[in-house]
Amino acid sequence: MNLKAQLEIRISDALAAAGAPDGSGALIARSNKPQFGHYQANGCMAAAKALKINPRDLAQKVLDNLDLSDIAEPLEIAGPGFLNIRIKPEWLARRLTEAERDPKLGVPTPEKPQTVVVDYSAPNLAKEMHVGHLRSTIIGDAMARVLDFIGHKVVRQNHVGDWGTQFGMLIAYLNDLAADDPQGTQADAELSDLEDFYRKSKQRFDSDEEFANTARQQVVSLQAGDAATLEAWRKFRKISLSHCSDVYRRLGVLLTDDDVYGESEYNDDLVNVIDDLRSAGLLEESQGAQCVFLDEFRGKGEDDADVPLIVQKSDGGYLYATTDLAGIRYRQTQLNADRALYVTDSRQGMHFTQVFGVARKAGFAKPEFMLEHVPFGMMLGSDRRPFKTRTGGTIKLTDLLTEAEQRAFDLVSEKTPDLDEARRKEIAAIVGIGAVKYADLSQNRASDYVFSWDKMLSMDGNTAPYMQYAYARVKAIFRKAGIDESQAVGQIVLTEAAEINLAVKIAQLPETIHSVSVECMPNLLCSYLYELAGAYMTFYEACPVLKADDPAARTSRLMLCLLTARTIKKALGLLGIDILEQM
Ligand code: ARG
Repeated sequence: MNLKAQLEIRISDALAAAGAPDGSGALIARSNKPQFGHYQANGCMAAAKALKINPRDLAQKVLDNLDLSDIAEPLEIAGPGFLNIRIKPEWLARRLTEAERDPKLGVPTPEKPQTVVVDYSAPNLAKEMHVGHLRSTIIGDAMARVLDFIGHKVVRQNHVGDWGTQFGMLIAYLNDLAADDPQGTQADAELSDLEDFYRKSKQRFDSDEEFANTARQQVVSLQAGDAATLEAWRKFRKISLSHCSDVYRRLGVLLTDDDVYGESEYNDDLVNVIDDLRSAGLLEESQGAQCVFLDEFRGKGEDDADVPLIVQKSDGGYLYATTDLAGIRYRQTQLNADRALYVTDSRQGMHFTQVFGVARKAGFAKPEFMLEHVPFGMMLGSDRRPFKTRTGGTIKLTDLLTEAEQRAFDLVSEKTPDLDEARRKEIAAIVGIGAVKYADLSQNRASDYVFSWDKMLSMDGNTAPYMQYAYARVKAIFRKAGIDESQAVGQIVLTEAAEINLAVKIAQLPETIHSVSVECMPNLLCSYLYELAGAYMTFYEACPVLKADDPAARTSRLMLCLLTARTIKKALGLLGIDILEQM
């Protein structure tokens, strides 16, 4: 169990023994400001209010019932009723020595690992990936990495949009090109830019009635499973997916072709979804469409109208929601999932509330199956409006990544012009892509954020380059002194305040990772990293490492350096960000 959880349980027990109605007051504040001690229990205010006693008196009662002497120094009551907890240096040192030997750096493996579906990225294959897909792709990827590292079984699902009426239009356009171009060279050239391809076929669709009819006919043939149409669809889909793969590779995310499980996979099951909703007595017809009404959404629409979840249109067509219902059932029965995370922008909040609600009501998701929408806000330009090109177009993801690498390359070339170009390019890719990812992940995902090249590439502040540099600096100690890392073994001894502070931070990795996994908030890991780097900097200024007074202190400090480096590398790795041994 991580330290924070351990403390909370014991404080909670003491609160109960002191007669408090529930565990409130036991919670440890998230930001543990050093001046408050290393941990601070939130205070006995709420519990004291319920008991109608003075919070400080309650705090005293809690102390009388709480023996933390194995872990902490004698506890102190602070302010209106907070409990300050200073971890004993010997206990910390032992904990870190254990973590040092552990490939998981002290992060405990759950007793009952879960199977967790992470549904992320999921672009619409009719078009090229654009900046709108960035957040889902990198937040989802970080969650997949964190959950996997903890020891859960992660199933990545790229729920791509690979079905629907747009594909009729695209296939018709593709067929047209092929008719004049038996070698397929023109089609290939045009498909190298999907955005363009989509635009051209849409123009054609809007201006050419005959073409539009053919396109509509293609939709019907596609749905009927016509072999030639399916063949063209497969071709288009494959090319579009290969564009995605390029982006994934450059971004360094884990998604592969094996993780693609798109909307089209559920086609055959949609009729069953409707049938089962009908048998469950949940379907209602409204204006010709098949709908499910949930109590929570009665009277929530315009003019107090009930808001339905439409699952089949009047023309018989199915919808995004129908596919998601089929998906939930698939994930429960075929994937045996205990938990599913849906990483999409917050505008889909209502969709998921309804879909999850209907799935529960229909018995597609048993109560224990945790269904969670992981929403995020928008990327904004410096004008605080949605991030667009200068002319107002959508920014292709591939162009954004190229710009990130180029900007990082310019910076690297300025700082270290002597490095050969290939090496500068390598560094630029790691720094540039890392910067884009970190800038995104370090934000509270629920809010919008302003995309700023200068900020994310800065060496100061909570950025990827800063963290990468912090890592390289720690490693430089070993390199410069010619010390092999394997020599840094022995006992960790904590005496100086700066050593203890750093040790506390290192020891907080497990609880931070735990919070990220529960709340799906990768930014907690970024804040943690930033605090860790700060604690290291203070330590490095206050405590000589190579010139330590005695060999034992030197070894202990080298071990702290090494643990700091390993922790930074691990935490950045969980965010999907690479490090450089030398910068
Ligand atoms: N393709 C959808 C979009 O671009 C995202 C899919 C998210 N996943 C899901 N199961 N609905 O908005």
